[in-house]
Amino acid sequence: MISGYDNIMKRFRLSPRLLAGITKEARRYFRNARGSHDWDHTGRVDELCQRIGRKEKADLDVLKLAALLHDIGREEEDRSNGKVCHGEKGAALARNILARHGVPVEMADRIVHCIETHRFRRNKTPQTLEAKILFDADKLDSIGAVGARLHNLTIDLRKTRPYTKEDTAYREFQIKLCRIKDRLFTREGRRIARQRHRFMVVFFERLEQEIEGTL
Ligand SMILES: [Fe+2]
Ligand SMILES: [Fe+2]
Repeated sequence: MISGYDNIMKRFRLSPRLLAGITKEARRYFRNARGSHDWDHTGRVDELCQRIGRKEKADLDVLKLAALLHDIGREEEDRSNGKVCHGEKGAALARNILARHGVPVEMADRIVHCIETHRFRRNKTPQTLEAKILFDADKLDSIGAVGARLHNLTIDLRKTRPYTKEDTAYREFQIKLCRIKDRLFTREGRRIARQRHRFMVVFFERLEQEIEGTL
């Protein structure tokens, strides 16, 4: 059975040209980005979304655009010292970009919902499969070998004692990141999380041993 949404989407194609145009716009928001939320993060989240999306049989076009645009509000959040929520800000910016590029409102609604709910927020939780996948992909990136904060740029190293646990990513892992695997929504997301989690445990064990000089 063809739903109203499928009918509307029959006339719309996410062409390579349109995709390139939106990507170019999204990228502009990362000119001053640093650390773990730079444009490379967006690229990794995009790849993960497609991978999980294929497994979970999600709408890959919605996921593609949601991933590309999910952190475009980040710069404004940083500039406001955290007063602006980048999920909300990004959703508003994305709504505008999508409209200008002629993406149907029905599709834009689905993309915007993903962006709005991709953070740990009690009042805004992912309701659709695509939103759950973006959430999972975004969190998975923070527990991978690439995305994990092995070096914490937000801590003034001169004020910490070397080789204490405050200045290692180990502490961040113990406190926060080790719980991520239990908070994901999709089956495939949880499977990847378990894999990454196991790697992180081994990695930090080794790191600690090297620091202590026992290995
Ligand atoms: Fe984000
Ligand atoms: Fe993100």
